[in-house]
Amino acid sequence: MARTALVTGGTRGIGAAISKALRDAGYTVAATYAGNDEAAAKFTDETGIKTYKWNVGDYDESKAGIGGVESELGPIDVVVANAGITRDAPFHKMTPEQWQQVIDTNLTGVFNTVHPIWPGMRERGFGRVIVISSINGQKGQFAQANYAATKAGDLGIVKSLAQEGAAKGITANAICPGYIATEMVMAVPEKVRDSIVAQIPTGRLGEPEEIARCVTFLASDDASFINGSTISANGGQFFV
Ligand code: CAA
Repeated sequence: MARTALVTGGTRGIGAAISKALRDAGYTVAATYAGNDEAAAKFTDETGIKTYKWNVGDYDESKAGIGGVESELGPIDVVVANAGITRDAPFHKMTPEQWQQVIDTNLTGVFNTVHPIWPGMRERGFGRVIVISSINGQKGQFAQANYAATKAGDLGIVKSLAQEGAAKGITANAICPGYIATEMVMAVPEKVRDSIVAQIPTGRLGEPEEIARCVTFLASDDASFINGSTISANGGQFFV
């Protein structure tokens, strides 16, 4: 029987590529989104992938949403915590709201997404937890104290879950994408973006599909002994 995968923020950017790659690999996929109904409807029309709307920053909404997905599609075997936002500002200009919004979505959102799914994975003796972190969680980034903190925190979550889940057949791994050609990166001022691309040895931004292929690998049985790892997919911009 096809395994079921949940991809948060799965209708746009890297998340959309992940949803499609998992569908193509034979998974039954549920893609969540937070607000853009139009993009979600277009995504379902084009891909046939079901979409579900909730705010990953809210525990009760996440739990209820996940319950709905599981009653429609069956137990979730693979969870990809991908939903993320930026609220970039130099630290001296960063507001408490900008700090909190990013913490709620990118860090607490991972807890809210994985926590309701985790007991079922433990009971069934199988699970794949894949968290989309970032190069900027590894190296920090000017104007991203909030974002970098969450993405570094995501790596801490993964390393802890890797230890807790191992005896129950669950692996937890992270991917740290570098700068990928998505709306999020295209929102960076052109001059700044050009200076970033100049730091990437491959001389280009990554493609969302290049991250999606990392996800399908980590989700597969081939990756059974990979646990607590981080795949850095950044074109050589930063080595850990
Ligand atoms: N390093 C050093 N200095 C930098 C800098 C950098 N990377 N970026 C900007 N600066 C400097 C500017 O040159 C400017 O200096 P001066 O005041 O001397 O001219 C100053 O910082 C910027 O000051 P401003 O008051 O004009 O800044 P602002 O309030 O308008 O904010 C910004 C501008 C938000 C920092 C904007 O430059 C920006 O968006 N930078 C990109 C941040 C970034 O890389 N975000 C990543 C988004 S993609 C992502 O997050 C996905 C992922 O996982 C990789």
